[in-house]
Amino acid sequence: MAVDLEREGGLAVLRLNRPEALNALSFAVLDEIGAALDAVAAMAGVRALLVTGAGEKAFCAGADIKELRHRSLAEQKHGAELGQAVFAKLDRLPVASVALVNGYAFGGGAELAMACTFRLAAPQAAFGLPEIKLGLIPGYGGTQRLPRLVGEARALELILTGRTVPAAEAERIGLVNAVAEGDLLEAGRAFAGRFTRYSLPVLELARRAVQRAGDTALQAGLETEADLSTLAYRTADAEEGMAAFEEKRKPEFRDG
Ligand code: HXC
Repeated sequence: MAVDLEREGGLAVLRLNRPEALNALSFAVLDEIGAALDAVAAMAGVRALLVTGAGEKAFCAGADIKELRHRSLAEQKHGAELGQAVFAKLDRLPVASVALVNGYAFGGGAELAMACTFRLAAPQAAFGLPEIKLGLIPGYGGTQRLPRLVGEARALELILTGRTVPAAEAERIGLVNAVAEGDLLEAGRAFAGRFTRYSLPVLELARRAVQRAGDTALQAGLETEADLSTLAYRTADAEEGMAAFEEKRKPEFRDG
């Protein structure tokens, strides 16, 4: 198995574990990530997912180039659709995900990180969409997610030059939420702890509303926001949160 899935209390931890190939994404690894995400979606009591890579060097060095080279056109199309479909499962997970980028995140590895809800980077992490250097372009969502994160001009610069973005720059341009010194897993636990205390169904509604911003025109997005904010308002947790404010006490959310 090249993907490990562990449970740590309210957290699930998915670790790419193919360090001899810098955690590169073969078809088999993509399938394993998909199965692990299905397992996370079915786990009761999970409040967030952390995604990271085994080994000192890499979060994930992208699609497995050695396998990629020998694909037929049909297999390539299937590969792009498979990668996109597996990463899209992160959007549909009932819980938010945090990529803990412990080293290189190139090509499909950067695309995996971008598909997570949040990204934390170790100081030695480095990002890039170097497909152009292989005579390729990104195929697992990078051309769509990168401009949404950093704007079109920066995305074009990074995709057309394939250059490497160090962690500090990634933070400055909004590609990662933060650079974390010290133990990255510990930083991931602390980061997740800042939102997992809130109502799970309301967190999910917030994620769905923000996701709509990326794929819809403003007016349609505002209509979605009105609908989803009303759904949140109807929850018992909203009732509790507003009552606690008036009663000057801490709310006790019950995920309902
Ligand atoms: C297969 C890979 C790999 C990859 C590294 N390895 N990246 N194998 N696919 N993407 C393997 C190497 O062949 C080597 O195995 C071992 O991992 C260690 O890598 P080195 O290159 O020796 O390490 P280093 O010198 O530290 O360089 C690290 C690196 C370099 C800068 C990350 O490995 C690199 O440039 N990798 C390719 C990155 C890339 O181009 N990614 C985008 C792929 S395309 P051996 O057995 O030889 O020692 C993509 C999307 C395609 O992701 C879209 C199509 C749909």
